[in-house]
Amino acid sequence: MGARPLLNRRLAGMGTTIFAEMSALATATGSINLGQGFPDTDGPREIAEAAARAVLDGQGNQYPPGPGIPELRTAIAEHQQRFHGLSYDPDTEVLVTAGATEAIAAALLALLEPGDEVIALEPFYDSYAACIAMAGAVRVPLTLRAPDFRPDLDRLRALVTPRTRLLLLNTPHNPTGTVLTADELAAIAALAVEHDLLVIVDEVYEHLVFSGAHHPIAALPGMRERTVSISSAGKTFSFTGWKVGWVTASAPLVSAVRTAKQYLTYVSAGPFQYAVAEALRLPDSYFTSLRADLLRKRDLLADGLDAAGFRVFRPAGTYFITTDITPLGEKDGIEFCRALPGRCGVVAIPNAVFYDDSAAGRSLVRFTFCKRVEVLEEAVARLGRL
Ligand SMILES: Cc1ncc(COP(=O)(O)O)c(C=O)c1O
Repeated sequence: MGARPLLNRRLAGMGTTIFAEMSALATATGSINLGQGFPDTDGPREIAEAAARAVLDGQGNQYPPGPGIPELRTAIAEHQQRFHGLSYDPDTEVLVTAGATEAIAAALLALLEPGDEVIALEPFYDSYAACIAMAGAVRVPLTLRAPDFRPDLDRLRALVTPRTRLLLLNTPHNPTGTVLTADELAAIAALAVEHDLLVIVDEVYEHLVFSGAHHPIAALPGMRERTVSISSAGKTFSFTGWKVGWVTASAPLVSAVRTAKQYLTYVSAGPFQYAVAEALRLPDSYFTSLRADLLRKRDLLADGLDAAGFRVFRPAGTYFITTDITPLGEKDGIEFCRALPGRCGVVAIPNAVFYDDSAAGRSLVRFTFCKRVEVLEEAVARLGRL
């Protein structure tokens, strides 16, 4: 092969994700993996049975309809109405995707021209940077800084240029746990309307909020026609491997996103779509107890990290805790996370990998608490030995 690199310029520098490196380290060292955000127990038994039944009954084993099966699109529309008071037409305003990840990719690929600027909350979930790059667009970070991790709204206004096409939001926010307030969202929405910007909002942690409330920006004045809302079944129902996600938006936006989506996967997860339709209709008690269970786990891990000497930023939402390792006499989260499995048998993720401004995240480290209580207790005991 010639001198030209195989990987194209847009993706240069985006090699293996940190999750692959850290999960491999967890396996190699037999460590407790509090790095990647997946639960170590599956979601409700009856929902797993619904998926098994769908396979055995021949539901969804062949290509389902491109936009998703009607039963699931209807259940998604009902969910948006039930929890957020938003009404969407299941036929034209709902699209089923291969997880939120495909929804994010399809939305960015559909809505961006090369050279467009995308303002995104930094630290970013790692697929945002890659998908903005694949679209040939330019990411413009709005950095959330410790200790509060709130968006600086004056700074946001200053970042808008004639090339800004869209705002990419994530609330509740991974990895900081920030839940954008009604006032913050109102200010962001007003800016979007003023400058005629599109908004993509990643709401995969919408049901994992411990203080305050999740507010959908699509509900604000002038926002319905410019907002692509994205969520998925992975986090809410503890089936991250099923990869069933969705988009709700106005018909023209859904149509644009569907155009890109149909050439990415076309369709996916046929039988799981039937099961997720049932999951979305679970009673309120399911959602309340999911939250209560995670709140207990958040406090268990946060208290343990605090006792072990970390500075803990207790999250308002998601199942991640961001910590600062400075009080432990450490400066560099990447070095710290590479050494941590050897030192005490726990794996975490350095937040620096989610930042363009790596100085802003250098001493921050993220732990997940979506694990069984006994696993968290063991992790806390091990971290206590640091
Ligand atoms: C903010 C955020 N968005 C999207 C995803 C991916 O969602 P899915 O598994 O549905 O593709 C994750 C998973 O960790 C996430 O943290």
